[in-house]
Amino acid sequence: MVHQVSQFISVQPDFVRSMSGNTGARNARYNPLMPEASIWPDEVDIPFANATNLLDLATSADVPIAHLCGGRARCSTCRVRIVEGQAALSHRTPEEAAMATKLGFPDDVRLACQTEVVDSVRLWRLVLDKIDVEMASQLGGGHYVGPVGREIEEVAVMFTDVAGFTAMSEALPPYDVVHILNRFFARASEAVENHGGRVDNYMGDGVLCVFGIDQEADSALSSVRAGIAVLDVARDMNEYMNMIYGHEFKVRVGIGLGEVIFGLMGGETSARETVIGDVVNVASRIEAANKETGTDMLVTDRIRARTLQSVHFGREFDLDLRGKSGRIVAHEVLGIID
Ligand code: FES
Repeated sequence: MVHQVSQFISVQPDFVRSMSGNTGARNARYNPLMPEASIWPDEVDIPFANATNLLDLATSADVPIAHLCGGRARCSTCRVRIVEGQAALSHRTPEEAAMATKLGFPDDVRLACQTEVVDSVRLWRLVLDKIDVEMASQLGGGHYVGPVGREIEEVAVMFTDVAGFTAMSEALPPYDVVHILNRFFARASEAVENHGGRVDNYMGDGVLCVFGIDQEADSALSSVRAGIAVLDVARDMNEYMNMIYGHEFKVRVGIGLGEVIFGLMGGETSARETVIGDVVNVASRIEAANKETGTDMLVTDRIRARTLQSVHFGREFDLDLRGKSGRIVAHEVLGIID
């Protein structure tokens, strides 16, 4: 299940005059016989008698709803999330549908200017201030225009790290260190992609990879297969390193399964798609725990439960992970069952 979370970026600076500060909007008198639109975070309840355009309804009550393009389905700043009452709304117009496709809106995110309401509804405005407008507007002007972020219920997150990297980088010239890392990254990322994953980020000598962004059913097993493939790459690298530099090359892998938020994050010129969520921290921590457990690859209970029929597991560890409350059980991966 995918949920709308927030929107990122894009600028149209000459709007927003009417958006700063409090609205002065008041709740209209409650009339039990009339449907009403409840608008948050303004906490304004607006009764109405006939089918009404949502943007018109909001502006009639002085709700400071952004509408940069004047209601022509071109800016997307009037977007709202429907919390209750989706059935009380008209279907998307072709213009709204095009915008929704472009920005990856889930069903509960609507353009108020394109939506008629016939019964009670509760909604959140998603574009609240000048910064939101700058981020959300699709009217161009050379600013970044990106898709809406989303929550994904189940993504496998894999961390890999080069063991003893600090010692290696002190022992070898910088050029060689970069060359070695890039040689490993190139082959490791190929292994990840071959198993349906994607490299989310490189962090020094570490790599963050994700599986299941498009909600593939077998993301847990794919991540374990990819982790094993990355360890194979590291073994090849170890031979190369021993031969060329007389130095060991070893990699540790940690994998977790859980909910993430996936979307474009970062500044206007540096935004990129990435994931955030507790599972990212867990994967990172259990990758580091390999050092203490003397293992190459650890996975969480959830990964084990999903891959039990296909993966050969070894020892089990009850871990007290730094920065995490409570203990986490991690399982050593030994290989794939043929
Ligand atoms: S006001 Fe611009 S899209 Fe609705």
